[in-house]
Parts: sequence; C-alpha cells; structure tokens
Amino acid sequence: MSASPAHGPGGYPQIAIVVAMTGKGVIGLEGRLPWDIPADRRLFRQLTEGNTVLMGHRTFASLGKPLPCRQNIVLSRTLAALPGAHLCRSFLEGLALGWRLGRPIYVIGGTEVYRKALPIADTLHISWISDDHAGDCTFPEFSLTDWEVTGTIAHPDFRRVTYRRRRPL
Ligand SMILES: NC(=O)c1ccc[n+]([C@@H]2O[C@H](COP(=O)([O-])OP(=O)(O)OC[C@H]3O[C@@H](n4cnc5c(N)ncnc54)[C@H](OP(=O)(O)O)[C@@H]3O)[C@@H](O)[C@H]2O)c1
Repeated sequence: MSASPAHGPGGYPQIAIVVAMTGKGVIGLEGRLPWDIPADRRLFRQLTEGNTVLMGHRTFASLGKPLPCRQNIVLSRTLAALPGAHLCRSFLEGLALGWRLGRPIYVIGGTEVYRKALPIADTLHISWISDDHAGDCTFPEFSLTDWEVTGTIAHPDFRRVTYRRRRPL
C-alpha cells in the first residue's frame, strides 16, 4: 500500500478520534447525546462519509442503524449478528478489519473505545460544546501535551478543534 495523506507511517490507514464533549468531558446521557446541534452533526458526516467508523455497541444502539455511506465496525462481545455492519469482538480485531478495508478509520466512541484508540490515534477532532451539560458518560482522561492544533472552526454552540499528534508514533 502506498503512503498518501489518508495513510500513516507504514502505509496503514490513518486513525482519527471524533468526539463532541463539554469542557468537563461529558459525551453522553442515558444512551444519547445531551445536546442537539445540527451543525456539528453535519461536520461529523462530512468528515466520516466514504470512510470507516469504529464504535462500541451502545454508540451503535444510540444511532439506531448503520451510518450510510460508511463502513461501520461495531465492537461487541454479546451481539450475535448486525446486518449492515461489521461485528468485531475486540478493539484489535476491529482495527485489523479497518486496516484491511483500507480507508481512514474514524473512532466515534464511546468511552472504552476512545480509551483504546487514544494511544494510537494520529488525529483528534474535538467539538468543544459551549454550554455545560449533565451526563453519565465521559471522554477518558487525556492530556493535550502531545497534540498540536491544526485547525479550528468556530460556531456559537461549539468550537471544532483538530489536533495532530506532535511526534509520529
Ligand atoms: N459526544 C460524542 O461524541 C459521543 C460519541 C459516541 C457516543 N456518545 C454517547 O456515549 C454513550 C455510549 O457510549 P458508552 O461508553 O456508554 O458505550 P460504547 O463504548 O458505545 O459501547 C460499550 C459496549 O461496546 C462493546 N465494547 C466496547 N469496547 C469493546 C471491546 N474492546 N471489545 C469488545 N466489545 C467492546 C461492549 O458491548 P457488549 O456489551 O455488547 O459486549 C460494551 O458494552 C451514549 O450516550 C452516546 O450517545 C457520545
């Protein structure tokens, strides 16, 4: 496989994390997003369409169906089958499948899946939600020390910041 902007060192597809969170790291409430911000959903769709999305079972349940125009990889140890999506039993299995599919991989939650992806992701797309929201699900603790800002989109309800890892893995 040849290297391209969509591929990292070694020719593997790039891995990016996409998340919307409050300043306190809240990402979810009772199995859904605590906010309704169409402009952020549009950015999410523009970023991920045509590529691979990797998610946990509960995030998939919150969406209700596979995201169209994307390869959907869902992690679960309990589901027997999932029409329209690739079912994988571990993060490593999901990642290996994503690599085989050959498109950039967007890790879209939830908490444990983000935790597994943080040490190996090349890029973070974080929508910092302007308002505070209560929630029962948070992004894992992490430090922005190793990340540099490469782009920002300002919106009244959120600020989308793209970070790239300072030192390649
Ligand atoms: N704000 C955002 O950007 C954002 C993004 C995504 C999700 N959310 C929100 O976050 C909440 C859902 O996230 P969550 O953290 O509760 O759940 P989740 O990570 O989406 O799903 C957890 C489930 O995924 C499976 N799983 C996770 N890691 C696995 C692994 N390494 N190997 C095999 N299976 C694995 C397990 O399913 P089984 O139990 O079937 O084994 C586990 O119970 C919802 O409220 C959603 O709206 C927000």
